[in-house]
Amino acid sequence: MKIAYMWKVVLVVTGLAVFLSLYGCPPTKTEPIRPVEIKDGDYDPANWGKAYPVNYELWKKTEEPTPVGKSKYKRGFDADRITYDKLSEFPYMALLFSGWGFGVEYNEPRGHAYMLKDQLEIDPSRIGAGGVCLTCKTPYAPELEKDKGVEYYRKPWKEVHAMIPEEHQELGVACIDCHDNKDMSLKISRGFTLVKALENIGTDPNKLTRQEMRNIVCAQCHVTYNIKKDENKKSVGIYFPWHGSTWGKISVENVIKQIRNDPSVREWKQKVTGYRLPFMRHPEFELFSYDSVHWKAGASCADCHMPYTKVGSFKVSDHRVTSPLKNDMKACMQCHTESSDWLKEQVTAIQDRTVSMMLRSGYATATVAKLIEQVHDAEKAGKSIDKTLYDKARDFYEEAFFRSLYIGAENSVGFHNPTEAMRILGDSTAFAGKAEGLLRQALAKEGIDVPIMVNLELHKYLDDRGKKKLRFDPDVEIKDPFGLQDRLVKAEYKK
Ligand code: HEC
Ligand code: HEC
Ligand code: HEC
Ligand code: HEC
Repeated sequence: MKIAYMWKVVLVVTGLAVFLSLYGCPPTKTEPIRPVEIKDGDYDPANWGKAYPVNYELWKKTEEPTPVGKSKYKRGFDADRITYDKLSEFPYMALLFSGWGFGVEYNEPRGHAYMLKDQLEIDPSRIGAGGVCLTCKTPYAPELEKDKGVEYYRKPWKEVHAMIPEEHQELGVACIDCHDNKDMSLKISRGFTLVKALENIGTDPNKLTRQEMRNIVCAQCHVTYNIKKDENKKSVGIYFPWHGSTWGKISVENVIKQIRNDPSVREWKQKVTGYRLPFMRHPEFELFSYDSVHWKAGASCADCHMPYTKVGSFKVSDHRVTSPLKNDMKACMQCHTESSDWLKEQVTAIQDRTVSMMLRSGYATATVAKLIEQVHDAEKAGKSIDKTLYDKARDFYEEAFFRSLYIGAENSVGFHNPTEAMRILGDSTAFAGKAEGLLRQALAKEGIDVPIMVNLELHKYLDDRGKKKLRFDPDVEIKDPFGLQDRLVKAEYKK
């Protein structure tokens, strides 16, 4: 009896010990609040870092190289390579963007610490729009816009850049961009872009929940935008083309409608077609928030790109913002019970399918652009091309081009919203196919023979680009993971 009782005690005690060792570790603490006051309008992260050294050290780490080999499409940066030329990754883009900066030098993004430095190094044609290009690059943008008004947009980039205090002329996104200095709550610093855009879709920027703010601080920059031009092609403003959309439903159709209908945002002239066109940039927020599984599940950009992390015994948000793949899927495992390998395979599978469709849509659109060029050449040679067929083809071409551009500019290679990305690329390919048919018909009517495979002359657009004489780099080209590209498009750029 006594012995049995003793055993029970032993069992309970060991059980308790095991339980404590598994679950009973002291809870990870949040960083202690240090009695350091952050002054209003203090731009210097080092000063904020005196109050929050752990966050500051992580933020600084965005300048460190990112691991190579963990992500198939966002390949990481090390001493051997600090840029991935997107035009060599996707040669059709070189043809489509030829005519302005994006067709000269266009690179994959890297760490936040480089945003302004990269502007100093890129081909000057990319900052031709003027001071307005600093809008998503320096924490001083809101102040400069307020003080200088239209001059901020219009003046040459170099002049506006020189207005930033010297010690911060290479400083990228800083604490003040996302935080209130009084209580560290999240805040929008770019009233002149994002607040206006939110009001435009009927969303009160003061009524966003904390989880919504964990998306919206990123949406200050990770969105598509357009630069307004005056009659002399000088920049006079910037806006997000969310007109006609609502919160969580910013559709590519509405974006296209807005930018095609606003002549003041036709920022560039596409060389191959001669068309003056608007442009689209990195619509991460728009694609993600358009009914994606994770948006509907209540996930935010910060959940996946700034997961909670332990530093010593403190629990903080990882301010070393990067791809979750480069962080071994730790972010995903806050919610998912699957293994890191399983999750990574899912991401790659989604991206492989997206890339395959991107290539399909991109080369189909590029083919149409070349046929439009051929029509223009025929007209110069005195032929008269059927206007009805041509006008319809032009309309469909632009619809195809903008859809291809949208997903090509979005930085997750489809992951943020896989089904929507596939829909958009499918529609792009459909529009391009229609346009090609119409143009072939128009050319045939004039007795002009078009070969089955249209020569895209890609080397013309890929080589000798800009001051740096950039060339096609076959090492970075992204091939169709399903091997269909070469069967569908015999693009002649390999020689
Ligand atoms: C002030 C504008 C701005 C804000 C705000 C901003 N970003 Fe960025 N982000 C950029 C720019 C610009 C780049 C590309 C930098 C480069 O390549 O030089 C970038 C790059 C990135 C990258 C690629 C990093 C890598 O390792 O390659 C990720 C991921 C990212 N941002 C996520 C986020 C998330 C998540 C948020 C919100 C918590 C956010 N960003 C807020 C401007 C911003
Ligand atoms: C459910 C998780 C998840 C959410 C939510 C999420 N992302 Fe991502 N994001 C990813 C994954 C996965 C990738 C692909 C990374 C790769 O291929 O290495 C990615 C890629 C990116 C990239 C390119 C990174 C690089 O290395 O070039 C940027 C920029 C980015 N996301 C920004 C955002 C922004 C801004 C939001 C919110 C509007 C957001 N993400 C929401 C998971 C997420
Ligand atoms: C691109 C936007 C962005 C920048 C830049 C940024 N933060 Fe944060 N920070 C966040 C987000 C998002 C959170 C999570 C907030 C939440 O969940 O309410 C956060 C949380 C914090 C917190 C609360 C504790 C924690 O880790 O969750 C502190 C403290 C903090 N940041 C300090 C800083 C400091 C210091 C800097 C500059 C060195 C900085 N942050 C730069 C977006 C940013
Ligand atoms: C905030 C929680 C959260 C985070 C963080 C998160 N997920 Fe999810 N994820 C979900 C939920 C909820 C679903 C919906 C599936 C369900 O209901 O079972 C989901 C669905 C998925 C699906 C299935 C998608 C589909 O279309 O059916 C994949 C794949 C996935 N997540 C991968 C990831 C990866 C990879 C990451 C990290 C980059 C990640 N998730 C981060 C909560 C999350």
